Amino acid sequence: MDIDNKIKELKDNFNSDILLIKSSKIDYNQVYTKYFGRKGLINGLYLYLGKVNNKDKPLIGNKINNLKKELLDQIEIFNKDNSSKNIKQEFDVSLPEISRNFGSIHPLTSVINEIKDIFNKIGFSSIYGPEVDTEYYNFEALNIPEHHPARDMQDTFYIDDELLLRTHTSGSQIHFMEKNNPPIRIISPGRVYRNEDISVRSYCLFHQIEGLYIDKKVTLSDLKGTLNYFAKELFGKNVKTRFRPSFFPFTEPSAEMDVYWGLNNESDYRITKGTGWLEILGCGMVDPEVFKSVNYDPDVWKGFAFGLGIERMAMLLYGIDDIRKFYEGDIRFLRQF
Ligand code: PHE
Repeated sequence: MDIDNKIKELKDNFNSDILLIKSSKIDYNQVYTKYFGRKGLINGLYLYLGKVNNKDKPLIGNKINNLKKELLDQIEIFNKDNSSKNIKQEFDVSLPEISRNFGSIHPLTSVINEIKDIFNKIGFSSIYGPEVDTEYYNFEALNIPEHHPARDMQDTFYIDDELLLRTHTSGSQIHFMEKNNPPIRIISPGRVYRNEDISVRSYCLFHQIEGLYIDKKVTLSDLKGTLNYFAKELFGKNVKTRFRPSFFPFTEPSAEMDVYWGLNNESDYRITKGTGWLEILGCGMVDPEVFKSVNYDPDVWKGFAFGLGIERMAMLLYGIDDIRKFYEGDIRFLRQF
């Protein structure tokens, strides 16, 4: 084979080897050695040069030198391409950080978590009841029979004749008592729904935390002690509280608890209607009728229950003056927490 054919064949092979490196089928070092190593193909050509006629040597030598230079140039170009690719993949510590939009904890969630912690510390565990429930659990079992005027207290969203969106978390008490025996110490947070006119102070859904304590000797003063402990933990040691008599069909006697927040700014005036006092919960001693509906003996078991409204407390704690802001999902509002 004459030298021109040899050179052409070698070039073709070299080009297809470079392609193979690019597609990662063979290794760069392997190819380099194959052509430029001591026993490589280029040196092979120089060995061949030693055997040709002296008069042909300058011409053939020149051709081999040119080929070598050409291939080395190609290798250099290949390496440059590759190393610039590598640089792109490297991590440049001097680049500014990529800012990410992390979510934040919703103010209602953080108040709920805080309250859960406060009650968990004194032995209450958290349980959950269904948001879609039956009239039985939401009303009847809680001593609110059909046609009882108390059903008017809560405008209810009905789903059909039987099902409704719960108007309070008190139904969770019944669900839990049906499946468990006393003594009981639980809280039950969750959403509740009422068909109310929407305004700065009320919305069609809100959150409550129900509490239930049942044992053999439970008194009204246990109830007051527990709720005062809670108020101090949440609002600070010096918080003032007051209990006002009230009525709930499922507790007897019943009360509502207010905390004194003061009138420090405009949102305090709005939320407390200018009194500085805010009603935060309803409570009372569990009515014997409720015990009967879950087959607990009312002569043996006593208990207290309470229902905390979360939104109002969150509004006071965070100085939020419009309840609707909790549900709008406005990122500018949520980012503040
Ligand atoms: N369920 C009552 C309400 O929604 C609150 C409450 C709970 C009152 C437990 C007494 C005992 O207003």
